[in-house]
Amino acid sequence: MTEAGPGPSPAAYDIDWEILRRRAVELMERAYAPYSGFPVGVAGLVDDGRVVAGCNVENASYGVGLCAECGMVSELHATGGGRLVAVHCVGRDGTALMPCGRCRQLLWENGGPECLLMTPEGVLPMTQVLPQAFGREDLDALAR
Ligand code: THU
Repeated sequence: MTEAGPGPSPAAYDIDWEILRRRAVELMERAYAPYSGFPVGVAGLVDDGRVVAGCNVENASYGVGLCAECGMVSELHATGGGRLVAVHCVGRDGTALMPCGRCRQLLWENGGPECLLMTPEGVLPMTQVLPQAFGREDLDALAR
Protein backbone atom coordinates (compact mmCIF):
# COMPACT_ATOMS: atom_id res chain seq x y z
CA MET A 1 0.00 0.00 0.00
CA THR A 2 1.44 3.38 -0.96
CA GLU A 3 0.79 6.23 1.46
CA ALA A 4 -0.32 9.54 0.00
CA GLY A 5 2.49 11.48 1.61
CA PRO A 6 2.99 15.29 1.43
CA GLY A 7 5.04 15.59 -1.86
CA PRO A 8 5.61 18.72 -3.94
CA SER A 9 2.71 21.16 -4.23
CA PRO A 10 0.47 20.81 -7.30
CA ALA A 11 1.98 24.05 -8.61
CA ALA A 12 5.14 22.03 -9.26
CA TYR A 13 3.35 19.81 -11.77
CA ASP A 14 2.64 20.60 -15.37
CA ILE A 15 -1.13 20.23 -15.32
CA ASP A 16 -2.74 19.85 -18.74
CA TRP A 17 -6.38 20.46 -17.85
CA GLU A 18 -7.55 19.73 -21.41
CA ILE A 19 -6.02 16.22 -21.31
CA LEU A 20 -7.77 15.58 -18.00
CA ARG A 21 -11.06 16.93 -19.35
CA ARG A 22 -10.88 14.75 -22.48
CA ARG A 23 -10.14 11.64 -20.42
CA ALA A 24 -13.07 12.50 -18.13
CA VAL A 25 -15.34 12.84 -21.20
CA GLU A 26 -14.19 9.41 -22.46
CA LEU A 27 -15.13 7.89 -19.13
CA MET A 28 -18.43 9.81 -18.97
CA GLU A 29 -19.32 8.14 -22.28
CA ARG A 30 -18.85 4.74 -20.59
CA ALA A 31 -20.98 5.55 -17.54
CA TYR A 32 -23.67 3.07 -16.54
CA ALA A 33 -26.42 5.45 -15.48
CA PRO A 34 -29.74 3.96 -16.69
CA TYR A 35 -31.65 5.12 -13.60
CA SER A 36 -30.62 8.75 -13.31
CA GLY A 37 -29.76 9.33 -16.97
CA PHE A 38 -26.94 11.47 -15.54
CA PRO A 39 -23.56 10.19 -16.77
CA VAL A 40 -20.44 11.44 -14.99
CA GLY A 41 -16.76 11.02 -15.80
CA VAL A 42 -13.71 12.07 -13.83
CA ALA A 43 -9.97 12.04 -14.40
CA GLY A 44 -7.14 12.82 -12.03
CA LEU A 45 -3.44 13.47 -12.39
CA VAL A 46 -1.36 11.49 -9.88
CA ASP A 47 1.89 12.83 -8.37
CA ASP A 48 3.92 10.35 -10.45
CA GLY A 49 2.35 11.49 -13.73
CA ARG A 50 -0.25 8.74 -14.09
CA VAL A 51 -3.78 9.67 -15.06
CA VAL A 52 -6.55 7.70 -13.34
CA ALA A 53 -10.23 7.94 -14.20
CA GLY A 54 -13.70 6.66 -13.45
CA CYS A 55 -17.37 6.78 -14.39
CA ASN A 56 -20.53 6.37 -12.35
CA VAL A 57 -21.99 2.87 -12.14
CA GLU A 58 -25.59 2.70 -10.94
CA ASN A 59 -27.60 -0.23 -9.62
CA ALA A 60 -31.23 -1.37 -9.52
CA SER A 61 -30.78 -1.02 -5.77
CA TYR A 62 -30.40 2.75 -6.14
CA GLY A 63 -28.50 3.40 -2.92
CA VAL A 64 -25.55 1.23 -3.85
CA GLY A 65 -24.70 3.13 -7.04
CA LEU A 66 -21.09 4.20 -7.35
CA CYS A 67 -20.06 7.75 -8.16
CA ALA A 68 -17.43 8.29 -10.84
CA GLU A 69 -14.93 9.38 -8.19
CA CYS A 70 -15.19 5.96 -6.48
CA GLY A 71 -13.95 4.29 -9.66
CA MET A 72 -11.15 6.81 -10.05
CA VAL A 73 -9.94 6.32 -6.47
CA SER A 74 -10.13 2.56 -6.92
CA GLU A 75 -7.92 2.81 -10.02
CA LEU A 76 -5.53 5.05 -8.07
CA HIS A 77 -4.94 2.38 -5.46
CA ALA A 78 -5.17 -0.58 -7.82
CA THR A 79 -2.39 0.83 -9.99
CA GLY A 80 0.11 1.72 -7.27
CA GLY A 81 -1.38 4.43 -5.04
CA GLY A 82 0.03 7.93 -4.77
CA ARG A 83 -1.59 11.31 -4.37
CA LEU A 84 -4.03 13.11 -6.66
CA VAL A 85 -2.72 16.55 -7.62
CA ALA A 86 -5.41 17.69 -10.08
CA VAL A 87 -8.93 16.45 -10.78
CA HIS A 88 -11.47 17.24 -13.49
CA CYS A 89 -15.03 15.91 -13.23
CA VAL A 90 -17.54 16.33 -16.08
CA GLY A 91 -21.21 15.77 -16.81
CA ARG A 92 -22.94 15.06 -20.10
CA ASP A 93 -22.01 18.44 -21.61
CA GLY A 94 -18.30 17.85 -21.00
CA THR A 95 -17.91 20.87 -18.73
CA ALA A 96 -16.77 20.93 -15.12
CA LEU A 97 -19.15 19.32 -12.65
CA MET A 98 -18.78 19.79 -8.90
CA PRO A 99 -18.27 16.50 -7.06
CA CYS A 100 -20.94 15.60 -4.51
CA GLY A 101 -20.16 16.07 -0.82
CA ARG A 102 -19.20 12.45 -0.26
CA CYS A 103 -16.81 12.53 -3.19
CA ARG A 104 -15.20 15.75 -1.99
CA GLN A 105 -14.29 13.70 1.09
CA LEU A 106 -12.76 11.03 -1.18
CA LEU A 107 -10.72 13.70 -2.96
CA TRP A 108 -9.58 15.12 0.38
CA GLU A 109 -8.36 11.73 1.56
CA ASN A 110 -6.53 10.96 -1.68
CA GLY A 111 -5.40 14.40 -2.76
CA GLY A 112 -5.11 16.43 0.41
CA PRO A 113 -5.62 20.15 0.93
CA GLU A 114 -3.48 21.24 -2.04
CA CYS A 115 -5.10 19.04 -4.67
CA LEU A 116 -6.60 21.23 -7.39
CA LEU A 117 -10.11 20.80 -8.79
CA MET A 118 -11.49 22.27 -12.01
CA THR A 119 -14.82 23.89 -11.10
CA PRO A 120 -17.37 25.93 -13.07
CA GLU A 121 -15.63 28.96 -11.50
CA GLY A 122 -12.13 27.86 -12.48
CA VAL A 123 -9.40 25.96 -10.66
CA LEU A 124 -9.76 25.79 -6.87
CA PRO A 125 -7.75 24.02 -4.16
CA MET A 126 -9.51 21.45 -2.02
CA THR A 127 -9.27 23.82 0.95
CA GLN A 128 -11.91 25.93 -0.82
CA VAL A 129 -13.91 22.99 -2.14
CA LEU A 130 -14.20 21.33 1.29
CA PRO A 131 -13.48 23.96 3.96
CA GLN A 132 -12.71 22.77 7.48
CA ALA A 133 -12.53 19.21 6.16
CA PHE A 134 -12.55 16.22 8.43
CA GLY A 135 -9.42 14.15 7.89
CA ARG A 136 -7.09 11.64 9.46
CA GLU A 137 -5.51 14.33 11.67
CA ASP A 138 -8.85 14.62 13.43
CA LEU A 139 -8.70 10.91 14.23
CA ASP A 140 -5.12 11.25 15.48
CA ALA A 141 -5.99 14.27 17.62
CA LEU A 142 -8.56 12.40 19.64
CA ALA A 143 -6.98 8.94 19.52
CA ARG A 144 -6.89 7.13 22.85
N1 THU B 1 -22.52 11.38 -9.46
C1 THU B 1 -21.18 11.13 -9.59
O1 THU B 1 -20.79 10.13 -10.23
N2 THU B 1 -20.30 11.97 -9.01
C2 THU B 1 -20.65 13.10 -8.35
O2 THU B 1 -19.79 13.74 -7.76
C3 THU B 1 -22.04 13.58 -8.44
C4 THU B 1 -23.03 12.52 -8.72
C5 THU B 1 -23.47 10.46 -10.06
C6 THU B 1 -24.21 9.61 -9.06
C7 THU B 1 -25.45 9.22 -9.84
O3 THU B 1 -25.13 8.06 -10.61
C8 THU B 1 -25.67 10.39 -10.80
O4 THU B 1 -24.47 11.14 -10.78
C9 THU B 1 -26.83 11.30 -10.40
O5 THU B 1 -26.69 11.72 -9.10
